[in-house]
Amino acid sequence: MTCWQIILIGWLCYAIGYNLALIRKPPRSKKITPPSRGWGNRTSVLIIGATGGTGRQLVEQALEQGHQVTAFVRKPAKLKIDHPKLRVVKGDVLDYTSVEAAMQGQSAVLSALGHKRFFWPTKILSRGTGNILRAMKACRVPRLICESSLGVGNAVGRLGLPATFFFVPLILPFYLWDRVRQETLIGSNIGIDWVLVRPPVLTNRARQGKYRHGFNVGNYIWPRRISRADVADFMLSQLNDDAYVGTAPGVCY
Ligand SMILES: NC(=O)c1ccc[n+]([C@@H]2O[C@H](COP(=O)([O-])OP(=O)(O)OC[C@H]3O[C@@H](n4cnc5c(N)ncnc54)[C@H](OP(=O)(O)O)[C@@H]3O)[C@@H](O)[C@H]2O)c1
Repeated sequence: MTCWQIILIGWLCYAIGYNLALIRKPPRSKKITPPSRGWGNRTSVLIIGATGGTGRQLVEQALEQGHQVTAFVRKPAKLKIDHPKLRVVKGDVLDYTSVEAAMQGQSAVLSALGHKRFFWPTKILSRGTGNILRAMKACRVPRLICESSLGVGNAVGRLGLPATFFFVPLILPFYLWDRVRQETLIGSNIGIDWVLVRPPVLTNRARQGKYRHGFNVGNYIWPRRISRADVADFMLSQLNDDAYVGTAPGVCY
């Protein structure tokens, strides 16, 4: 056997083993949500990660829909959106006090938290989400819509073959490990209505308003895509809708 064959077999074993380690049972709320607990007349949303690609879309679309928006950001100058219904709050998800201060008076939280610390162990998603959940309970905020991703839990492999055998084990092993911790934290949470939204590869294209969602979206072979604008559209639709509460639907074209 040549050196290259040994490397290839070693890589395949690592990639398959790593993906298997990401598998979890589908997160499902232990609590039965009363059917009327949807958005109703709630009007105030807190958007975490508002300066990011999806977060910015969430802010713009939530304002278009008439919501009172609080954008939680590390650098307010980066947001560059001005609107009478927008309040910008400076904070860091790793700082519980700042999260709780922004949480006061909110009706729901939309999280598009993400980061670029790909190549070393990180707990930003899980620790940040722990602080969000704790503050939601303290301030009695009932609903969390959190952007996650395909490729973890019961959606392992659904990012397509190139991701499963290359990008996930090479670039995202620490990131997705923390993603699993984040999903587990949210999924084991009792007392909050949550929806974990799992997109495939994100693009910056315009909103189409037409996409598929559910538990069987994504593809085990071909990579799928969706724009951040359409992910934001779907996340906002979950404020009004109880159909996916306590579950983790995928969303893609
Ligand atoms: N990229 C993809 O193809 C893809 C595919 C599937 C799922 N996803 C997931 O989708 C989510 C959104 O992705 P995206 O590319 O739209 O987001 P993004 O542009 O990476 O933005 C992430 C946001 O999180 C904020 N953030 C990071 N650390 C923070 C902290 N400690 N406290 C407060 N805010 C913090 C960032 O703030 P700053 O602006 O200050 O940095 C930024 O606003 C991420 O969770 C990502 O993993 C991405």
